[in-house]
Amino acid sequence: MSHSVYRGVGDLKGFSLKNCQSMPDPTGVLMCAPDFYDVVDIKNPFMAGHIGGVNRSLARRQWEEVRTAFETAGKGVLAIDPVQGLEDMVFCANQTFVGVDPKMERICLLGQMRHSSRRREVPAFEAWFKDKGYRIVRLKDPGVSFEGAGDAIWHPAKRLIWGGHGFRSQPEAYEEVARAFESPVVLLKLVNERFYHLDTCFCPLTSEAVLIYPSAFDAESLELILKIFPIVLTAGEGEAIRSMACNAAVVDAKTAILQKGAASVARHMAVMGLKVIEVDTSEYIKSGGSVYCMKMFLY
Ligand code: ARG
Repeated sequence: MSHSVYRGVGDLKGFSLKNCQSMPDPTGVLMCAPDFYDVVDIKNPFMAGHIGGVNRSLARRQWEEVRTAFETAGKGVLAIDPVQGLEDMVFCANQTFVGVDPKMERICLLGQMRHSSRRREVPAFEAWFKDKGYRIVRLKDPGVSFEGAGDAIWHPAKRLIWGGHGFRSQPEAYEEVARAFESPVVLLKLVNERFYHLDTCFCPLTSEAVLIYPSAFDAESLELILKIFPIVLTAGEGEAIRSMACNAAVVDAKTAILQKGAASVARHMAVMGLKVIEVDTSEYIKSGGSVYCMKMFLY
């Protein structure tokens, strides 16, 4: 099971969540201050109409609020220095995918960004993780795109990775993701360009429960989600788009940090036993990101 890539329910013979090894909780988070954050082009539908429209001082206050929320949730926040000219670097879930292998070695798999402007962000993260002692791994094929933890998401507390593809990452990347982390990968195909990264429409809450925006996925992917998660909660269109509610960050299956204004999703989370911390990330939603993609979980 360890290196398998599952593409459809037909592949799941012999698979059981219970048999997946356990994964440690993240030890902290990495964030990048928004000194140079801006919307300068349109890489996803959220960005339309917002070129030059970021309120810098509000963005800075909102970033501090998110940082404080992670600290309240019990995770120390480390920072990588922002780089002038890299306006999307603040979304530090995308440049790498980080975790530990079964021997507990910390690994940083470098992303290969779809847009050339974002490719320039990766070396700064490579240097940061190398300095912290992570083993750096790169994909063999430089032509395959892979946007890190924006599309690759760890199942809570389990050695299992959910791999989104369709807009930013390509399915070919996940064979190597599975091998690098010695962990099975379940592929999920995204079909709605508004939900261009898996973290915009798929938010594991606990090991048993996930929050999704269903029409972001093709039928086969929905079937995989329903087969593996005993509890599947859904976000409505308004909350999924306006509040990017599926881009909440859930910490240790205990605390959810969620964009304010998503009342139904907040109730779903509370029913699942999560403490909900509401924050405002409106300046980041202008670029197509909210809480989840403003950090990288560290191990
Ligand atoms: N403007 C950035 C982009 O389009 C936003 C990335 C947000 N990250 C995320 N994981 N959803 O690449």
